[in-house]
Amino acid sequence: MTEKSALGVGLLGLGVIGSHVAARLLDPTTANAFGRPVELRRVLVRRLDAPRSVALPDGVLTDDFTDVLEDDGIDIVIEAMGGEHPALDHLTQLLSRGVSVVTANKEVVAKHGPALMAAARSSGARLRYEASVGGGIPIIGPLQDDLLANDISSVRAIINGTTNYILTKMSQEGLAFGDALRQAQELGYAEPDPANDIEGRDAVYKLAILASLAFHTTVTPDEVHCEGITALEADDFQYAHELGYEIKLLAIAQRIDGAVQARVHPALLHRETMLAKVEGPFNAVEVEGDLVGPVVFHGRGAGPAPTASAIIGDLLALARGEDSAPGVQMGQRGPLPVRPMRELETQYYLRISAADQPGVLAQIARAFGDHTISLASVIQKDADDRAGTADLVITTHPAREAAMQAALEDLKGLSVLTAVHNLLRVEAA
Ligand code: HSE
Repeated sequence: MTEKSALGVGLLGLGVIGSHVAARLLDPTTANAFGRPVELRRVLVRRLDAPRSVALPDGVLTDDFTDVLEDDGIDIVIEAMGGEHPALDHLTQLLSRGVSVVTANKEVVAKHGPALMAAARSSGARLRYEASVGGGIPIIGPLQDDLLANDISSVRAIINGTTNYILTKMSQEGLAFGDALRQAQELGYAEPDPANDIEGRDAVYKLAILASLAFHTTVTPDEVHCEGITALEADDFQYAHELGYEIKLLAIAQRIDGAVQARVHPALLHRETMLAKVEGPFNAVEVEGDLVGPVVFHGRGAGPAPTASAIIGDLLALARGEDSAPGVQMGQRGPLPVRPMRELETQYYLRISAADQPGVLAQIARAFGDHTISLASVIQKDADDRAGTADLVITTHPAREAAMQAALEDLKGLSVLTAVHNLLRVEAA
């Protein structure tokens, strides 16, 4: 029996994810899964002399992308650099040349997925990106193939492990946002510059990819409404708990009347729902299909080992060949109309401080009534006797976002109002 020829692999990036992937590919037992030897031929790095956690064979490291691009022995390239540039340029050149690519890069896929797919289609190359959303959780594959028989109406997800860790700490230990963020950084969950995570952009990229696949359309990151978690305070968690809720950073995409609405923001979720129970750095994605009903994918959404699981899974699929072509691809069909945020209809939670004196509640209630918003509950919380103010926690029945924002503006104009702390949406179970 003749031995099958080796699968030639190139790797772009040797950070924590790239190193984990490289170590796995260099492990001789990995060949068993592929049914043939795997040869890691070239690894692109920024600095050749940087310290490495993985020992590579001589001559594999390079700081020149053309060494990867022009190596005819490379069948598939794995991109684990992250960031838009120069990853986008590298992927475009590889795919245009007919080299198939596996990427973990949510920013590039979310912003340029359809163009990259088009480049791949015209050269006969393939692009897979399971690791771009939810780390080790299989969710791209199920949306592309396993759930294809369904008409999908919504995707609701916790797809950022850093923020879910921070929110879990604030919820369970009463920590302030800054303290919870510091803990997340000390444990390596949050990056030294956590802006992309805590301001919601990381989740926006991931939701744009999920929505594009779920609804067979193209949703771009700038079509996703985005609010981060930096304004949340310990009091919000205390009051949410008293009302029976948890607070989570949710990524939600819905198809409503032939349009798509996509949003990332913190929201109150009833504590008995599955998503409310997703804790720490874990991720979960709930998909609602007309045949399957609600289906939830839960697991480790980040970290080198889970991400390597998704990357090497994609590598295996590409190595198997043509019959692994997915049923749905980003950009395969045209865009659907985007439903603006002001047309959202949901319940709201509002925490404000106001003068603690007769007639104040009536003025506040009128601001809501003027915009036909019906209040569900008004609770007076901590009073500050010296300042003569009280905290008010208000929940509404379902209302339009436009009406709620207009009511908020009116409230801000009231002289009795001393602070607007947080306006949060309450997600129906
Ligand atoms: N920074 C991301 C998170 C992991 O915290 O979930 C990579 O997508």
